[in-house]
Amino acid sequence: MSSLARSHPVSTSSLSRPSSSLLAIIHRCDCCDRFTPDRSPLLLHHDKPLRPNPLRTLSVAASLSSSSSSSSSSTETPQMVLKWEEVEVGEPKDGEIRVRNKAIGVNFIDVYFRKGVYSKEMPFTPGMEAVGVVTAVGPGLTGREVGDIVAYAGNPMGSYAEEQILPASVVVPVPSSIDHKIAASIMLKGMTAHMLLCRCFKVEAGHTILVHAAAGGVGSLLCQWANALGATVIGTVSTEEKAAQAAEDGCHHVIVYTKEDFVTRVNEITSGKGVNVVYDSVGKDTFQGSLSCLAFHGYMVSFGQSSGGPDPIPLSDLAPKSLFLTRPSMMHYTQTRDELLAAAGEVFASVAAGILRARVNHVYPLSDAAQVHSDLEARKTSGSIVLVPDS
Ligand SMILES: NC(=O)c1ccc[n+]([C@@H]2O[C@H](COP(=O)([O-])OP(=O)(O)OC[C@H]3O[C@@H](n4cnc5c(N)ncnc54)[C@H](OP(=O)(O)O)[C@@H]3O)[C@@H](O)[C@H]2O)c1
Repeated sequence: MSSLARSHPVSTSSLSRPSSSLLAIIHRCDCCDRFTPDRSPLLLHHDKPLRPNPLRTLSVAASLSSSSSSSSSSTETPQMVLKWEEVEVGEPKDGEIRVRNKAIGVNFIDVYFRKGVYSKEMPFTPGMEAVGVVTAVGPGLTGREVGDIVAYAGNPMGSYAEEQILPASVVVPVPSSIDHKIAASIMLKGMTAHMLLCRCFKVEAGHTILVHAAAGGVGSLLCQWANALGATVIGTVSTEEKAAQAAEDGCHHVIVYTKEDFVTRVNEITSGKGVNVVYDSVGKDTFQGSLSCLAFHGYMVSFGQSSGGPDPIPLSDLAPKSLFLTRPSMMHYTQTRDELLAAAGEVFASVAAGILRARVNHVYPLSDAAQVHSDLEARKTSGSIVLVPDS
């Protein structure tokens, strides 16, 4: 058990079901303030699961808890916790399949939802990426069979679970040549890299690009792919260890932005010309500097906010260099079935061709999801993180 994972008092209400179905349990934690002294919705603790009953699905769910001991005063700040809960999975309905997850991708968006940066009704099961085996198909569904290995990335949320129901339209078949953990680590991040490089701004040979958090899950794939497209890649990272990984992943120049001023370094590297595009997923801490790094007609692609949301800027800030600014979401670029199959196909093909090497640097049991979130937020991770169901 991690140092942050402790048992704690919970109030529990349960819904009894016939023995062959599942049990829904809603916990309310009464001691979160012990672990969130700064009152920030940081972490989190969870109960270790009991040995799972094979008829049941254990998931890690975010639920509301009190920030101030057992008091229920209206001034309490709701905190979120990750907890093991048993939920009813049920049978797939029209157009749906049930999938037993084999590997679950962890993404920074899971942190945003857990912390309430993006809102979601409580309680909910986090997670937006998984690979699994189809265990049941809805009535009349064709094109999908029990035993198929499928992957999905995006909506619906709920992949931090041993088993989940999904619309058949959101899953794609996983090529047998690709390992489950690798597939779970590249669906969301790989399709994001595809969107960024091929659709938001089309990177070509001769372009110079700047990628923040170059050793992260998306960053690692972005740098490899951009290098293969012929771009000159400048990456930023927080540590020397991450710098070594970014260089291996195709960064021609790596800036340790915790030690060096990245705007000055980009200026030096590009001889004052600036870069054609900045892929900025860090947000608050880098946004203004990123704008300063752009060449005339440059593209500011702000696709995340791991350090917090960027401060608003006046439109006039784009004028001195006729800049473009976009804030894309991968999900908006994979809305149609054709777009989804094309993006996933490009990612799987790039893995098979050796263009993309998935760095599955962290594999944890699903029950350790809280520790994983803690590490991700503390910038301790690099490459991709995958959770594997305990049973
Ligand atoms: N728009 C979309 O469709 C889309 C899709 C997928 C992901 N994203 C975004 O892409 C980004 C990367 O996602 P990921 O899952 O691959 O995560 P990740 O890059 O593996 O982890 C986030 C990284 O951000 C950097 N970072 C800088 N300041 C930070 C801070 N104050 N707190 C935490 N991290 C900080 C850290 O790298 P260093 O230690 O090197 O600074 C950290 O490792 C996220 O912002 C995510 O929201 C967007």
